[in-house]
Amino acid sequence: MVKVDAREAKEKLDGRILVLGGGGLVGSRFLELYGGDFVVPSKTELDITDPEEVRRFIEEQKPDFIINFAAYTNVSGSERPEEKGKKDGQCWRINVEGVRNILDALDPKNTHFIQISTDMVFSGKVDDPGPYSEDHPPEKDETKLTWYGFTKAEAERLVLNKLGDDATILRINYPVRAKYNRKLDYLQAPLAKYREGNLWPLFTDQQISITFIDEACEALARVVKGKYRGIFHAASSDITTPYEIIPYFIREVEGTEVKVQSRPLGDFEGRYAKYAGLRVEETQRRLGIRFSTWKEIADELAKQSRT
Ligand SMILES: NC(=O)c1ccc[n+]([C@@H]2O[C@H](COP(=O)([O-])OP(=O)(O)OC[C@H]3O[C@@H](n4cnc5c(N)ncnc54)[C@H](OP(=O)(O)O)[C@@H]3O)[C@@H](O)[C@H]2O)c1
Repeated sequence: MVKVDAREAKEKLDGRILVLGGGGLVGSRFLELYGGDFVVPSKTELDITDPEEVRRFIEEQKPDFIINFAAYTNVSGSERPEEKGKKDGQCWRINVEGVRNILDALDPKNTHFIQISTDMVFSGKVDDPGPYSEDHPPEKDETKLTWYGFTKAEAERLVLNKLGDDATILRINYPVRAKYNRKLDYLQAPLAKYREGNLWPLFTDQQISITFIDEACEALARVVKGKYRGIFHAASSDITTPYEIIPYFIREVEGTEVKVQSRPLGDFEGRYAKYAGLRVEETQRRLGIRFSTWKEIADELAKQSRT
């Protein structure tokens, strides 16, 4: 099982909770912040692409909740020829077939399934621009999404088709946290590059929002405690651009003036979403939560990474 470090756990959640992908960037923080009767198999103990293994595991553990953080998350990797458009590729098998296997194995009367998803299910293009509200329909045209985004959108459709009004989906985007050893997030990666003197030019005209992972975990805990169903967003309450947030964050951490290069999206517009981001008003209202602005998130992370 994945080692759970719950030193910071501020609250114990009721029920038996099967956490898939609990070693990842987002899931591991959820397990640090909340205590409870968690079952957290590693990928070798439970590979979600194996339908028989999934069925047996769920039958044995009888979880009250399943939170699915497990995913193929390498967006550029999903664009490689061996992945893109391939139903025998890792990305499709984990993100779509994995979710199908879980849905096939669970009894929704006994187990509340929560799927973690992304704003990349939306195109971010000028003909369907964000920021997107919770009820905005995910893009169906795979040519308008990355392959990763398309597989996550297909997974959402599976969840909604199978569970109907019982479906629960939490979307996040660019999840960030103060400390995580296994990979660098949307703010930590450019900070590391800046320190090497190697930071890439930052887009001035790409609209984004970001997710403070601690707040996404709080939203998730509220979903579990209130047994809420539906589609939720956890993200900053406002939007920004890379050229605005990244130098701001670096300046807060380094405490010095920061010089960075900028550029418009230009030729990259086909590859990256220009009008992305998630709206959070409905989630804030339903869960009684307030999400921070991007500046508040950057300030808090800079403070935490200095300690
Ligand atoms: N990171 C982002 O920028 C981002 C943005 C928006 C939404 N999301 C969504 O948020 C969720 C969590 O993302 P993350 O960044 O925390 O992901 P991550 O760090 O890449 O972790 C993914 C987890 O899934 C596990 N996993 C992969 N394949 C598996 C399989 N076949 N069976 C069982 N477990 C498997 C991995 O196990 P190993 O550690 O053993 O490989 C890992 O624990 C995902 O649903 C993702 O789509 C992420």
